[in-house]
Amino acid sequence: MALDTTIDSPEQVMAHAKARTLISPRFYTTDYDAMNRIDVSPMRAEWDAHMLEYAGDNNHDHFQRTGDFLAEMHDLDPAMRQEFLDFLVTSLTSEYSGCVLYNEIRKNVTNPDMKQLMTYLVRDESRHANFINQSLKDFGLGVDLATLKATKDYTYFKPKYVLYATYLSEKIGYARYITIYRQLERNPEKRFHPIFKWFERWCNDEFRHGESFALMMRADPSLLRGGNVLWIRFFLLAVYATMYVRDHTRPMLHRAMGLESDSFDYKVFDICSEITRQVFPIVLDTDNPKFRAGLSRLHRLSEAAEAAKARGGVVGAIKRAACAVGAAATFARLYVLPVKRNALPEQVRVAPAW
Ligand SMILES: [Fe+2]
Ligand SMILES: [Fe+2]
Repeated sequence: MALDTTIDSPEQVMAHAKARTLISPRFYTTDYDAMNRIDVSPMRAEWDAHMLEYAGDNNHDHFQRTGDFLAEMHDLDPAMRQEFLDFLVTSLTSEYSGCVLYNEIRKNVTNPDMKQLMTYLVRDESRHANFINQSLKDFGLGVDLATLKATKDYTYFKPKYVLYATYLSEKIGYARYITIYRQLERNPEKRFHPIFKWFERWCNDEFRHGESFALMMRADPSLLRGGNVLWIRFFLLAVYATMYVRDHTRPMLHRAMGLESDSFDYKVFDICSEITRQVFPIVLDTDNPKFRAGLSRLHRLSEAAEAAKARGGVVGAIKRAACAVGAAATFARLYVLPVKRNALPEQVRVAPAW
């Protein structure tokens, strides 16, 4: 499927970063008083050891370009260039979304554990966002992050939703980056842009960020049982479905790396599901043929909705509404599919071993 927005000028990049579609990354606000009350003391020993890892800052020198960075860029044909720019802009927006949220929490809490963690997270996410932005600047398409922060819409999330959603986005971020890194490590001739060489140490930051949220959730077991399991299920499905639909708008990007969007996504789900066993009492059955059929239907409906939007007029509007109803029904059917139960392990922390 073609991307719905051309990315050729700084204005189009900004519009893309600010887009408020179901699959575009969002910016969040939350209840900072509730974040302030988070108590990690039941996990104190693991938490303190974890904070020492952040203090060690093993990636302090990583996000700097080395060698002849630009000389390693392959020439990209126009369609492929669009998909790669879309990848860079959505990745930048996701990284910067974390940076903005963590920074607001940092400024608004007095709880020393939260303040310390958020300071480390902001440090890492701002490095990540700026590193991607440098690559956009190579195309003359850098994003003015201050303007993006001031003008993008914000979505309010309750603190527990922030924990579920950020935990998942950090871990799925790790799973995505490590899968790409390993693929290009095996097939270096397919590394069409040098930024991918940075992904291994980069994704260890994301993995560590996810560990922080895992410890916060395990410190409050009420977040992981009863009615909250329904929320966990919702966030798992929403994150997986969004990634699936978004990735399927970029088939060329994955093919250039020697991957297919479908197998790439299911590999990422496998890694992410295995990791989330540290904290979530359920795991989605992503191998269930009904699950797979549901995701591919969501993708087809998203394509049909884009076509209807391009068509415009009354017929286009009716078709888009029908797609929206179909997508909601498909999501609901996916939501009620059987899930796998998972007994939480005694030790929370896991190592990034993929
Ligand atoms: Fe990041
Ligand atoms: Fe992160």
